[in-house]
Amino acid sequence: MIGAVLGLQFGDEGKGKITDFLSSRFQVSVRFNGGGNAGHTVVANGKKFKFHLIPSGSLRCETVVLGNGMVIDPHALVEEMENLRKSGCTSRILISKMAHVVTPMHKVLDMKEETVRSKLSIGTTAQGIGPTYEDKYARTGIRMVDLLSPDIIEQKIETIYRMKESLLKDTEYSDPARRHSMAGELNKVGVSLMPFMEYTELEIFRQYKAGKSILFEGAQGTMLDIDFGMYPFVTSSNALAGALSLGSGFPFRKVDYVLGVAKAYMSRVGSGPFPTELQGDAGNQLRELGHEYGTTTGRPRRVGWLDIPMLRYSIMMNDVDALAITRLDTLGLMDNIRVCTRYMKDGQEIDYVPRSFDELSQIELEYIDIKPWGAVKASDGGYSYQSLPEEMHRYINLIEERLGIPVDVISLGEGRENTLVREGSRLRNLEEVQQEHDRTL
Ligand code: GDP
Ligand code: IMO
Ligand code: MG
Repeated sequence: MIGAVLGLQFGDEGKGKITDFLSSRFQVSVRFNGGGNAGHTVVANGKKFKFHLIPSGSLRCETVVLGNGMVIDPHALVEEMENLRKSGCTSRILISKMAHVVTPMHKVLDMKEETVRSKLSIGTTAQGIGPTYEDKYARTGIRMVDLLSPDIIEQKIETIYRMKESLLKDTEYSDPARRHSMAGELNKVGVSLMPFMEYTELEIFRQYKAGKSILFEGAQGTMLDIDFGMYPFVTSSNALAGALSLGSGFPFRKVDYVLGVAKAYMSRVGSGPFPTELQGDAGNQLRELGHEYGTTTGRPRRVGWLDIPMLRYSIMMNDVDALAITRLDTLGLMDNIRVCTRYMKDGQEIDYVPRSFDELSQIELEYIDIKPWGAVKASDGGYSYQSLPEEMHRYINLIEERLGIPVDVISLGEGRENTLVREGSRLRNLEEVQQEHDRTL
């Protein structure tokens, strides 16, 4: 089976948790976009893992791939790999030779650009993501494979420095000796990563031909997509399903199952429009109930109600087959619950998500109220759908009716065990098909 897990909101939907949960059914796990801006939390066997660069399927998949669409801080990667090994994980890690390198200079540039943006500052994660993608598209970027050649690193660092001198001239990188030492450090770490570097697109295809099941894990979410998100308050890469092909080389036509992950409410870190944002006491209550603080930066996340029109758009853009709804346990504890069902403009419903700030300020949101369902308890054998509270059933039915696709996965806590795959869902059926396939291999 070829599957994809994608975020449908502003990131932090719980993709890491869902990817890890599904990873027992997959042999290969692939990341294809973003870099250290991602923070994917997995809680397994009572232990918490935070993945930034390595796919969240690493705890159980045989092979994990960091695809060409990623931007990688090699020093951070080495640290993450060491931590993973210490926890006993033995998966084979492959890094695309064509992925781009985030240097310490890019992180400084990220912060400098934010100051220049002033009122339009994005609230980036300061992980050097934007500047690294800028260099990629300016064709001055450093690729992982370039780290093996001291001369090429030196040349590229000089080019990047000269192109961005106005931002860097009052930093440590204005000193040629510092640039030289950085090049040396990059070469050293690059050589240490050489055994893991591959033309990963070829390896992914080999694995596919060998009948292995492959899971693609998206970072960020649709509304942070550089083309279709709330530009300019977005990340610098594509987060949509289509990015999977360009960021790994694997054809999207071969993906059997796209699972869209959405929180039962919404959260966002950083600046930019957030139509259903909750201010005041209710916002504070939801933030505290959900411990909504960024995995990468620790910043408090902005929170709001579930936005059905936005989800409808994300489902369309990602060709989502089914939904995984996370944090239903958190939402149930609220004093009251609302869901945005329609965007209205001049008294008429609109069937799109405006991306112009003027138009966004003119829309009115229609909400319906839902009765909270309180705490959710699992019985000894885990959860059964029937045993979940009536009000939660109503919430899930509403999502399915309004969006026209099934909720295949229900997430009721941060651990693997707090997860339910619906009976009769396509995910269950696909698993049966896979088992049959494995038996006949
Ligand atoms: P990601 O970036 O999409 O992987 O999400 P993050 O890991 O940044 O943030 C999601 C947070 O919610 C993490 O702390 C998860 O452990 C947690 N989480 C995921 N699903 C659930 C759930 O169903 N219930 C609860 N209580 N926590 C969850
Ligand atoms: P995961 O994969 C939530 C946000 C930042 C900022 C904007 C641009 O964990 O869901 P960047 O550093 O990418 O230039 O920041 O995008 N952002 C995320 N928000 N989850 C993420 O990743 C994010 N990656 C970037 O907060 O608003
Ligand atoms: Mg996250």
